[in-house]
Amino acid sequence: MSIPARDQERADALRELLHHHAHQYYVLDAPEIPDAEYDKLFRELQALEEKYPALLTPGSPTQRVGGKTLEGFAKVRHKVPMLSIRTETDIEATGARNFDGRVRRELGLKEGDPPIEYVAELKFDGLAISLRYEQGVLVQAATRGDGEIGEDVTQNIRTVGQVPLRLRGAPPVLEVRGEVYMRRDDFERLNEQQREKIARGAKNEKTFVNPRNAAAGAVRQLDPAIARQRPLSFYAYGWGEIEGGPAFETHHEVLQALKGWSFPVSERTVLAQGAEELVAYHQAVGRERDGLPFDIDGVVYKVNSLALQKKLGFVTREPRWAVAHKFPAQEQMTTVESIDVYVGRTGKLTPVARLQPVFVGGVTVTNATLHNEDEVHRKDVRVGDTVIVRRAGDVIPEVVAVVPARRAPGAKAFVMPATCPVCGSAAVREEGEADHRCTGGLFCSAQRKHAILHFAQRRALDIEGLGEKLVDQMVDAGVIRTLPDLYRLGLANLVALDRMGDKSAQNVLAALEKSKATTLPRFLYGLGIRHVGESTARDLARHFGKLDGVMDAGVEQLLQVPDVGPIVAESVHAFFQQPHNREVIEQLRACGVHWEEEGEPAVQAPKPLSGKTVVLTGTLPTLSRDEAKELLEAAGAKVAGSVSKKTDYVVAGAEAGSKLDKARELGVAVLDEDGLRQLLAG
Ligand code: IVH
Repeated sequence: MSIPARDQERADALRELLHHHAHQYYVLDAPEIPDAEYDKLFRELQALEEKYPALLTPGSPTQRVGGKTLEGFAKVRHKVPMLSIRTETDIEATGARNFDGRVRRELGLKEGDPPIEYVAELKFDGLAISLRYEQGVLVQAATRGDGEIGEDVTQNIRTVGQVPLRLRGAPPVLEVRGEVYMRRDDFERLNEQQREKIARGAKNEKTFVNPRNAAAGAVRQLDPAIARQRPLSFYAYGWGEIEGGPAFETHHEVLQALKGWSFPVSERTVLAQGAEELVAYHQAVGRERDGLPFDIDGVVYKVNSLALQKKLGFVTREPRWAVAHKFPAQEQMTTVESIDVYVGRTGKLTPVARLQPVFVGGVTVTNATLHNEDEVHRKDVRVGDTVIVRRAGDVIPEVVAVVPARRAPGAKAFVMPATCPVCGSAAVREEGEADHRCTGGLFCSAQRKHAILHFAQRRALDIEGLGEKLVDQMVDAGVIRTLPDLYRLGLANLVALDRMGDKSAQNVLAALEKSKATTLPRFLYGLGIRHVGESTARDLARHFGKLDGVMDAGVEQLLQVPDVGPIVAESVHAFFQQPHNREVIEQLRACGVHWEEEGEPAVQAPKPLSGKTVVLTGTLPTLSRDEAKELLEAAGAKVAGSVSKKTDYVVAGAEAGSKLDKARELGVAVLDEDGLRQLLAG
């Protein structure tokens, strides 16, 4: 078959690209594109070569298992080659069913024949390692390299706590294969340290893109002293040469034996009968994935019987008895269309990358926060850049890295604006702070909008129907400038707004009217004083009893309030020192906003749960979390977020988690909803 020039050229280009990226990934530990992108290119080339076998060259990236070796490490020839496995990326069921179908066909099984037994394992996202033991002693650790020849990284691997250095009862020659990886918490800590080093001016230090990269960097670190400081973990999932020792019949038996010889084998390795149990495993692991302490990029299915494995054999360098079934990628590449600066309620300016929409981690992502100026510079994100975006679980999407090779010439570094992009007031970054703030205060319409929304929210004045769109419109139209303006709105103002009918306008007015009857804690919280959250507002109200008391308190007096420290005290004091804030309060009261003031604090009757600290966890049968909290606080209790020795009670509902465990550990009294009601009743 003659090969069209177009396909010939594409195959050449793909080979070039794949060689380049394989080098970046395997040799330099500095990938420029996410795995999913590499896989896509790889499969495209594979498909072309399958279509036109004449295209296939011995040097094609599809014919190699891994990468070349790095200068500096001794070479190790693997007695038993370290193979690669075929990858299925089909979502859900088809990956497992395709694999099972192929295995059954190869073995000549018919419909109605019993299911094949498989071992299903996690596909750890680290790097493959072969550990050689002679007479029970670790004599060599090698990377996979190109599958035939790897690198001798014994020194570095010896520092991994989970790799046994000595075995008891193991065969005289034993090669164990598994994955060296880095836990997510260890990765975060390592990157934190790296950032500190860089901040202190260390040259040649970098942060790592992901745990796999960090693990690869540590294993192939030429200085074992540095490798030692990098926290690595290990899981065994296979073996190479074994001499002497028991005869094994199944993969699962070997894993059990490895466990007995003190190798870590994942608890999530299971036996599965037939395709449907593999499908169920894939789904179950997919749900658990984000909660695992380490990254995985899929699951692996292996035929359990070693006799059947032998019968199935290999195609090129991939066994027919195993397959990797990947999960949808959590990292994708896209481009930065612009970097906008968002203004928050307290005036905080947040740079946000507007992205070419990209489907990653199950959703279409169009924005990613860049947090602050330092973060943008650390990652050096520029408009027009190609970036790797990651979204895992419910965590907000983030830009993990820029692909420097794809930067357009002349791309300009990001500069934090010196003025607020909304109101033009000066933007300042105070010493020791990471954030820039707009100094416009309520002059800034962005801050004003946020302030109004904050005031109107359910936990504050609870003005139903006053949402973001409406507030935007009212502020932009100039109908509202300050909080009291809300209560001066007339029907005419409202119906003049876009898409506001008579009925909706009446509803808004009714909600405003209703909101006037409030409580002091809600009012204080609704003012949006910096550092004053709901619970501080309650503490202030309880301590002073009356608004005037809070307004006139000096810093010293404020510090008397339980749980109020210098930062909060300063902030409250400064807020009420501002004449325009006092003016706003006066006007709100004049408009009819009112609450019941408690008497003088001294004459307050002691409440049944005064001084008690309670923690809520799980779902209660009838009370919502907010309701339970309100009842407890009305009875004088303090509701805390975490369990400690100072906790008096933990109220636990369905699906209570670690807080309940902690309570039991510390011997804190645990109540259910009935118990809570009894407690409240005294
Ligand atoms: S078995 C012949 N099992 O995935 C089969 N590999 O190409 C050899 N990996 O980089 C591999 N978890 O390091 C196997 N449970 C697991 C695995 C696993 C991760 C990695 C392996 C290699 C790639 C397979």
